[in-house]
Amino acid sequence: MRTPLIAGNWKMHKTVAEAERFISGLLPLVYAADGVDLAICVPFTDLQAMVDSTRGSRVSVYAQNMHQAPEGAFTGEVSAAMLSEIDVHGVVLGHSERREYFNETDAVLAEKLLAARSAGLAAILCVGETGQQRDEDETEAVLTAQLDRGLALLDAEALAELVIAYEPIWAIGTGAVATAEQAQEACAFVRSRVAAVHAEAAESTRILYGGSVKSDNAAELLGLPDVDGALVGGASLEPESFAAIAAAAVS
Ligand code: 13P
Repeated sequence: MRTPLIAGNWKMHKTVAEAERFISGLLPLVYAADGVDLAICVPFTDLQAMVDSTRGSRVSVYAQNMHQAPEGAFTGEVSAAMLSEIDVHGVVLGHSERREYFNETDAVLAEKLLAARSAGLAAILCVGETGQQRDEDETEAVLTAQLDRGLALLDAEALAELVIAYEPIWAIGTGAVATAEQAQEACAFVRSRVAAVHAEAAESTRILYGGSVKSDNAAELLGLPDVDGALVGGASLEPESFAAIAAAAVS
């Protein structure tokens, strides 16, 4: 059985003071949320404070990006070792906003996944199609290309422990959540692509749905057979709405 994961992606939101207010509101609300893994994916400047404030709790802390090289002349970048040294649990890689605005490619993401793994970091790899690609019936071709290239350097154990977030770009921040049928179909397809690399590992890989997940649609999405959790943007910014989605994962 795969333990559900509810991960909040704050994107470029929250100063340290705001993050501290959030976490002191959240922890009492999720104290009893047994059977679900919780994560917050926070800006670099919030990492140390959130690692310290969540120690001993059921919430783990992820970065939203990292560089693939161990060190070097890459001004403005952060390495996997820098994250793991301060007890960051994992990293989100290949979010569509990073692919679109920062030119992240599948080949670079394959290297980042390997670097994260080597440093002992968990990883959430994001994939998903644009609205136009879906309209043109290219969803499966897009997912296939992203996964076949992105997963190229991982062994079976790494695939089993990997989290993949299916986030249709047309559903991100729009309120246009995928239907249950669309989410299940795409997440099952993602699992089939992992299975094409290693069938047994794919049974353990957790696949999340992301894109306009809210407390009122979470239960239906999280009840789908191939949806093992959610990557939540806007609704992860308030403790109450994030905790409500976590509660939907356990009920
Ligand atoms: P929203 O939940 O705001 O649509 O964002 C989804 C997302 O991009 C999470 O990574």
